This record gives sequence, C-alpha cells and structure tokens, in this order.
Amino acid sequence: MLIRKVKGTRDILPPESRLWAEVEALAYRIFGGFGYEEIRLPVLEPTELFVRSVGEDTDIVSKEMYTFADRKGRSLTLRPEGTAGVARAFIENGLGQRPQPLRLSYLGPMFRYEKMQRGRYRQFAQIGIELLGAATPQADVEVLLALHTFLAELGFEDLVIVLNNLGDPEDRPRFIDGLKRELAPHREQLCGDCQRRWDANPLRILDCKVPRCRELVTGTTPVAEVVSDEARTHVEAVEAGLAALKIPVRRAPRLVRGLDYYLRTVFEVVSPELGEDIVICGGGRYDRLVSDLGGAQVPGIGFAIGEDRLVEVLPEIFRRRVLDRPVVAVLPLGAGAAAPGLALSRDLVAEGLTAPAEVTGRSLKAGLKWASKIGARAVVILGERELTEGKAIVRDLDRGEQETVALDEVPSYLSRLLNRRNT
Ligand code: HAM
Repeated sequence: MLIRKVKGTRDILPPESRLWAEVEALAYRIFGGFGYEEIRLPVLEPTELFVRSVGEDTDIVSKEMYTFADRKGRSLTLRPEGTAGVARAFIENGLGQRPQPLRLSYLGPMFRYEKMQRGRYRQFAQIGIELLGAATPQADVEVLLALHTFLAELGFEDLVIVLNNLGDPEDRPRFIDGLKRELAPHREQLCGDCQRRWDANPLRILDCKVPRCRELVTGTTPVAEVVSDEARTHVEAVEAGLAALKIPVRRAPRLVRGLDYYLRTVFEVVSPELGEDIVICGGGRYDRLVSDLGGAQVPGIGFAIGEDRLVEVLPEIFRRRVLDRPVVAVLPLGAGAAAPGLALSRDLVAEGLTAPAEVTGRSLKAGLKWASKIGARAVVILGERELTEGKAIVRDLDRGEQETVALDEVPSYLSRLLNRRNT
C-alpha cells in the first residue's frame, strides 16, 4: 500500500516552495533590520513547559498537543508555539546577561492537533519575533511597526491589525467576577467545554469558537473597561505611537487570544480574504512569562505569523515577482558539449541567473520542448560546431529570435536580454 503523509501535514512543492523561501528571506531582512537575530530552538520540549506557560486549560494544551513519553518515560511535546521555548532558552542560557532589550526571531514548524480545514493544519510554520527586557509602550509600537513593515513589503494593503487591552493579572479577578455575573443567567447554554472553563479558566470562555457561546459573550463588558490605570495608559500610549507612525489598528474589545501568558497589549492580524476565524498573525505582551518559568522579572512582547496562511493570501505582485523569475535553459548537443554545457551553467549561476542544464541527452527539438515546459525565457544551445568556434546560440523563446554569441559573452548577453524583458 502507498504510504501517505500524516493527516494535517503538507508537502510544500516547487514552485510554491519558492514563495516560502522568499517570504523567509524578507523576514530575515526586515526583522533583522530592526535588530532581531535568529534563535534556533528545539522542536521537542518538556511537556511541562507548555503547561506552565500557554496554560493548562487552553485549547492548545488541553486538546491539541502532540505529547508522548520517550523511551525513558519522560513526557515530551512537539512545540505548539515558539514563545515558551524562547523564554526557556532565555533563562537557561542566561540571556539576561546580554545587552537588553534582547531582540530574537525564529521560524519553523509548530504542531497542533486541530480539525483540518482551510488554513488550519497540524504541522504549520510560524515566523515570529520576541522583544525581551523592555516594558515600555514604545517596545510594543516597535514590534507592531516591524510587523507592519514586513506585511507592507510583501505588498499587503488589505490586512487589518486588531488590538485589545487585557489588563494586568491583578485586574483579572475583577474582570472575571463581572463576566461570570453577566453570564450566570445563561450559564446552562454554554457549551460543555465552557462549563468546565467556568471554574478552571473563565477567560477562555471569551475565545470559545462555538457560535452560541460567542453570541452570549458579545453582550458582556469588555475587559479593557475594567483594567487598571497603568494598563489603560500603557495601551493608549501604544495606540498613540502607532497613530504617529500612521499604522492603522482597530480595537477588538473581546479579543483575548488563546494563550494564558498575555497581559495588556494583545493583537491579531486578519485578512478580509480568510475571514476573522483564520488569523494571519497573533501576538501580545507577556511580562510575567519568564518569571513564571523560574527566571527573573523580564517583560516581553512579540508575535508569530502563520506562514502557511500568509503564503496562501500573498499579494499578486509579490507572487509574480517570485514566480516569474527568468529561467535560462542550457542545451548541450552531443557528448562533447556536455562538460562545456555544465561549465556555462555554472557561469550563468555566478551571474545570478537560474540556468539549469539539459543532462539527459535530448535532441535539439526535444530539448527546446523541455526548455519551454520548464518556463525558460531563453535557451543557450551548445552545438559541437559552435563550440569549436568558441560560440553558442542564444535563442529568445519569447520572440523566437536567435543569435550566435561568443561563449564568454553569453552571461552578459543574457543578463541584458532578460533585464530588457523585465522592464
Ligand atoms: P497563536 O495565535 O497561537 O500565537 O499562533 C500564531 C499564528 O500561528 C496564528 O495567528 C496563525 O496564523 C498560526 N497558526 C496557529 N495555529 C495554526 C494552525 N493549526 N494551522 C496554521 N496556522 C496556525 C502564538 O503561537 C504565540 N506564540 C504568538 C506570540 C509570539 N505571542 C507573543 N509572541
């Protein structure tokens, strides 16, 4: 029987994989430009890490983790997100000794056992940044500016950043008392999970996805209305900072995010194309996470972009730029042309071109067919006769014209030809 991929995982094939590589290259460039340096973390972590950070009663920890006992009986989990690992690594490697704040970025696979649907996978990739060691509103603004800059560079014009104020953990009991008071008359109508959350973690009722629970929650007092003055001032300063930079954000009064470590600023990015349920990016402030995991009092803020979702809605302008990259096919004819063909391929690559060579011994006719199938704009034909004269034929497949060019001038000739075509 054929072996198939695990449900919820994906094969990212070329040419789509090119989009992924370019998105990642841009992420390194933009986030790197803002000072974020990559941290590469294990995919496997002790289960306890996520229980203590993301929270025991969150959907992620209670139903979605890939958790198993290793051969020595230790409970391990395939990371469902990256922030907890960053906090662990911060403590474990004494990163508090480095100049603060510390700016870290990461990308890679995350795992959540979720119901499969568009944009929701069991293995998915995140691109994230974390700013540790700065508690000021400016830190939040910078993180959102980096996010906005990245999305703008990708050509997005229609994405919306929604933001809320979760207040501080000290504000939480007051908010939860009020929430429970307001929901009490309807308690029986809440779903089974929310019945359980009622005592264990009532804040999670706010991000229940069951339509009836959502409806009931809509009438309740927004969390931002019961937060402390410090938290209110903080998030208002973030909004003012964003306004000064002309970064549009919208308040989402019932946004709470599905992870327990957040406080004060939380935000998400939604796309009109995917709808509000399929969020492109989520993030927020987590000033107690490092200390809750046994480290010092180190404030933090960050976000993670869902790369699968991002690639799915990439603007056409970016897709075209990446996918229309010109290809030149090198077509050696006859055994004597094989080595010079590969040598030319190497010289074209050195020139920055994409120039695969024909290596299966096709004839001129079959070779031209192959070149057009792989989307080549031009073919360099190396016949034995041309080679003895130190020349090659460059055929422009778009125009159907060809010219004989001295071998050592082929790279510059092609660069000119393709540049002209691109402008
Ligand atoms: P999160 O909202 O759980 O936050 O995930 C961030 C993003 O990962 C989501 O907005 C979404 O785009 C993507 N994502 C999540 N689950 C899936 C899935 N099953 N399939 C495809 N994409 C998915 C976090 O993970 C936090 N660690 C973000 C953060 C960083 N907060 C502070 N710093």
